[in-house]
Amino acid sequence: MDSRDVPAPVRRKDVAVLVPAAGMGVRLGGGTPKALRELAGEPLLVHACRRLAMAPSVAMIVIAAPPGDVDAVRALVPGAVVVPGGATRQQSVAAALAVVPESIEVVLVHDAARALTPPELVEAVAAAVRSGAAAVVPALPVVDTIKRVDAGEHVLETVDRAPLRVIQTPQGFPRATLVRAHAEAVDEHTDDAGMVERLGHKVHCVPGSDLALKITRPLDLLIAESLLAAHPLPVSRS
Ligand code: CTP
Ligand code: MG
Repeated sequence: MDSRDVPAPVRRKDVAVLVPAAGMGVRLGGGTPKALRELAGEPLLVHACRRLAMAPSVAMIVIAAPPGDVDAVRALVPGAVVVPGGATRQQSVAAALAVVPESIEVVLVHDAARALTPPELVEAVAAAVRSGAAAVVPALPVVDTIKRVDAGEHVLETVDRAPLRVIQTPQGFPRATLVRAHAEAVDEHTDDAGMVERLGHKVHCVPGSDLALKITRPLDLLIAESLLAAHPLPVSRS
């Protein structure tokens, strides 16, 4: 094929990424909000936002910060808009969503705790939203055997894991769909695609990444340290 037949890649800066970062990190411990806990000398939030900013589609990053650390977070991530987060993840996302201008067409929601998520995953999610999906989630196969148990920890059944997926962030949506999902939410959801699912929309999966693991327990910090050492960012862009 003649190279002139290949269309140039479309570089659209049409994406806002909301970064809920207001959680206390109870399971990680340490007494500091998790997003401000350090990995290789820098807060998790800084690692996360650096990778988001490297994604060519990203026009704007909005961080929902721990309410007592708004100024500290502004200093740590000068390019971002920072708002105080809420008592739940969902409230933190809603607070960040409220400041996204209507001109932005694609909104991604990304946990600060997934600090090593590569820019390529951000681009893949944004591209799937542009292609018409109402909700996009990164998904990985389940590797362990899964069993359902009763209240006494007796096994009731072994679940077929083939159709099960582990879901990560960033999750992507047309702005209007996410706004509607939050406006109509009646209960608490652990992710945003769950709210869009509730509206009756189809949620589309793209391949997830091991680098997008959520740092939740102390073990995850150790794993993240190894991953960071094995996958440093290109020097000129870090
Ligand atoms: N989050 C938030 N506001 C809250 C609770 C959570 O913005 N009120 C954010 C966290 O900062 C994190 C993401 O949501 O980036 C995913 O939540 P999770 O991993 O559960 O973090 P924490 O709630 O901080 O951890 P834990 O549940 O162990 O306390
Ligand atoms: Mg939590």
